[in-house]
Amino acid sequence: MAIDETKLQHEYIEKCRQLITANGGAPLTYHVTTFGCQMNARDSEKLSGILKEIGYIETPDEESADFVIYNTCTVRDNANQKVYGHLGMLKARKKKNPDLCIALCGCMMQEESVIEIIREKYKFVNLVFGTHNLYKFAELLYRSLTSSSQIIDIWKDTDSIVEDLPVDRKYSFKSGINIMFGCNNFCSYCIVPYVRGRERSRDPKDIIREIEQLSRDGVVEVMLLGQNVNSYGKGLPDEMSFAELLKEVEKVEGIKRIRFMTSHPKDLSDELIEVMKDSKKICRQLHLPLQSGSDRLLKSMNRRYTKEQYLNLVDKIRTAIPDISITTDIIVGYPGETVEDVNETIDVIRKVGFDNAFTFIYSKRTGTPAASMPQLDPAFVKEQFNRVLTAVQEEADKRNGKLLGCIEEVLVEEINEHDAAMLSGRLSNASLVHFKGDAGLIGQLVKVRLNEAKGFYYIGEMIE
Ligand code: SAH
Ligand code: SF4
Ligand code: F3S
Repeated sequence: MAIDETKLQHEYIEKCRQLITANGGAPLTYHVTTFGCQMNARDSEKLSGILKEIGYIETPDEESADFVIYNTCTVRDNANQKVYGHLGMLKARKKKNPDLCIALCGCMMQEESVIEIIREKYKFVNLVFGTHNLYKFAELLYRSLTSSSQIIDIWKDTDSIVEDLPVDRKYSFKSGINIMFGCNNFCSYCIVPYVRGRERSRDPKDIIREIEQLSRDGVVEVMLLGQNVNSYGKGLPDEMSFAELLKEVEKVEGIKRIRFMTSHPKDLSDELIEVMKDSKKICRQLHLPLQSGSDRLLKSMNRRYTKEQYLNLVDKIRTAIPDISITTDIIVGYPGETVEDVNETIDVIRKVGFDNAFTFIYSKRTGTPAASMPQLDPAFVKEQFNRVLTAVQEEADKRNGKLLGCIEEVLVEEINEHDAAMLSGRLSNASLVHFKGDAGLIGQLVKVRLNEAKGFYYIGEMIE
């Protein structure tokens, strides 16, 4: 089925191309705004790839674009509110310019209540689709371009993975790669399993083929993407573990750095730690979401590990790979959370000493088990959030600058935003480094001495 679907979508790309070039005139421009995680960022590269193949030209300026697309996120309510805010502004633009084309896609569109609101209040949006039929973008766009009514097409789920559609990478030298889609974990606060569907792994052969092609195109760093990469391979005809997949990726010539996210602590295997330890390519960075340090809350959250198991896991990883940088996600304000629960979270923050932690205020998501539990007073939550933030900051400060004076490899990513004579890049552990150098080095790995530690970044000097 996948092969036919790929062919079909390429036919629609051609049909769209004929439509949009039919009247001659200047080429049409597009702008994609991405909300949410790396998975969404990767999806936007797919949208962009299809649009460029059709003949649209990307513009950095949404105001002037002929086609505006929002690839949305719904993990927390503030992401949804931002989209409604943008739509409010687009309404006025569409009034002035009825030819403006607007599309909405991504996780937020998988929610029925959102679709109802769009049907009622945002009739001017041309095209709405979801996460499961993103691969049909060219076909949906064709339908929209040949229709005067609003097109809404949302699927509840899918089991197919369509390969070989165009992708327009944001960076020439690094790339995200989906290794799996969806999530089966149903953490009780989280909407992702409902909007991204069931977990399904890509065939390792397709993944390796894609990475080999990326390497030929000049990519040196890959980020393997999935909501729970540690459970990669389940349900494949030939089951394969994530650690085994990493060993295969490691063999791809030209790839110099491998990153991945996200790791669920419950599934992180000893085999993975061994593979990371022995690898020259896997980066010294691990994102290991904790969510809470309280056993009572972890149980209610359905995370399936205890505080002690988390701490033991971190110990095991640090013993095997002492220079690894560990980051995490924490939720504050989950239903029923007490000062004592927060103390437990802070205890883990102190014991682990995270290099960084993304701390979120709990957001009630419709349809999740936690949404029907009694919710906390926002003022209390804010207070607890600040306590956690202080602990996170203090621990990160202790670790910042730990490589001061060392000579480290840096992947040069861009010209420094504030000083055009400087370049910016990242270490294996993902720390940011700024140093003097020529723009021609972008995409290369260079050795840099880290001369100054400035909080979360270093100032360095290139030595070769
Ligand atoms: N699959 C990843 C997480 C993806 S969502 C994992 O399990 O680790 C990214 C982060 O958003 C989560 O780690 C969690 O900290 C946060 N998050 C998810 N749902 C949330 C909610 N309802 N309110 C606040 N934060 C939430
Ligand atoms: Fe959400 Fe949990 Fe799945 Fe992560 S593992 S996406 S937090 S349900
Ligand atoms: Fe958001 Fe969807 Fe990612 S809800 S965090 S964009 S999977």
